Amino acid sequence: MTASNDKPEAVRRRVGIVGGGQLARMMAEAAPDLDLALTVLDPTPGAPASEFATQIVGDFDDREALRALAAVSDVVTLDIEAVSAAALATLEEAGATVAPSSRVLGVIQDKFVQKQFLAAHGLPCGRFAAVEDGATLAAFGLPCILKARRHGYDGRGVRLVNHPDDAAPLLAGGPCLAEALVDIDKELAIMVARNARGEVAHYPVVEAVFDPAANILDTIKAPAAVSPAIAARCTELASRAIVALGGVGIFGIEFFLDRAGDIVINEISPRPHNSGHYTIEACATSQFEQHLRAVTGMPLGPTTLMRPAASFNLLGEPQAHGVPAYRGLDELARTPGAVVHLYGKHSVKPYRKMGHVTVTGNSGHDAAAKAARLRGLVRVEGNGP
Ligand SMILES: Nc1ncnc2c1ncn2[C@@H]1O[C@H](COP(=O)(O)OP(=O)(O)OP(=O)(O)O)[C@@H](O)[C@H]1O
Ligand SMILES: [Mg+2]
Repeated sequence: MTASNDKPEAVRRRVGIVGGGQLARMMAEAAPDLDLALTVLDPTPGAPASEFATQIVGDFDDREALRALAAVSDVVTLDIEAVSAAALATLEEAGATVAPSSRVLGVIQDKFVQKQFLAAHGLPCGRFAAVEDGATLAAFGLPCILKARRHGYDGRGVRLVNHPDDAAPLLAGGPCLAEALVDIDKELAIMVARNARGEVAHYPVVEAVFDPAANILDTIKAPAAVSPAIAARCTELASRAIVALGGVGIFGIEFFLDRAGDIVINEISPRPHNSGHYTIEACATSQFEQHLRAVTGMPLGPTTLMRPAASFNLLGEPQAHGVPAYRGLDELARTPGAVVHLYGKHSVKPYRKMGHVTVTGNSGHDAAAKAARLRGLVRVEGNGP
């Protein structure tokens, strides 16, 4: 026995997160078992993550606040994409480690630049073009899907354009990306992690079912009911994309499977993703633990799917305002395999993400059936006007 065997693997590491929302909150829940201390930067006092992490109150782009975050962190990471890549680059120049890096964020946060990157690396992403006005839109051709190049999320800033008039509100907001309309059979997604040593770990392919009214993710089914060949193709494309990016952290990659059986990449998120929440209960390592492992240079954990799962978001009811009132949680508690995660938000708004539910089952069908039943019972109302 040499003394070196008794050395700790590392001293306690500190992670700073820009954004203190639900993703940071779920990272913070995974942090103690990794011996990590977390600090979040968020403009709203009492942000969701502040229950489990130290909070610095400040804007995401406030350079002074970012410097304060970096000063108490060994590595800085993100819970949101709408952070100034230039501000993060300034931190890097001052010696801070940022993961994913300002360069990776810069590629991803502009949807047009992201598509150019994918195309340049031979990754399938459909036909697209930058569009600024009616003339460039007409040159691309209608119908198409028009997207704000920056700051779109949860389907906000995405629109099907059949007629030039449909494009006006989005074009008025700034530069856009036009995409060929995909005849979607299934929307698929996969989480992939990569650490600074270049180790890559991927999770199973899942299917995302969307709510057409809110244009927001409705239910995730894990694993996706697709052929092994399609799952293998998604896994290969996701790994290639993250390696090409040189990304460090966890990434969510969204795909469209079209009715001809072809797969295109829709988009990449440089952080834990809604479609990976099921990993907390269903996989050997949750996406949040995996992200922290990746950005702090630890070995990646196993990604095995232990049980089939289905998860859905708890959104504010269409008229809900004020202090949240959760309904149906007792029934959920009586359902074997069902787990609720509440995000600790102090007020509810229509369609605001207030929490999520994951149900594991003996089969994908069993989990999805239980989730569908609970989906009709669990609601978030508000006590406000
Ligand atoms: N080229 C396309 N063809 C057909 N449908 C599309 C296309 N692009 C996007 N959509 C539809 O619009 C949805 C939202 O698009 P996208 O993922 O780009 O936006 P987002 O605002 O980043 O969404 P989120 O934050 O929910 O992932 C997709 O999930 C899909 O249902
Ligand atoms: Mg998306």
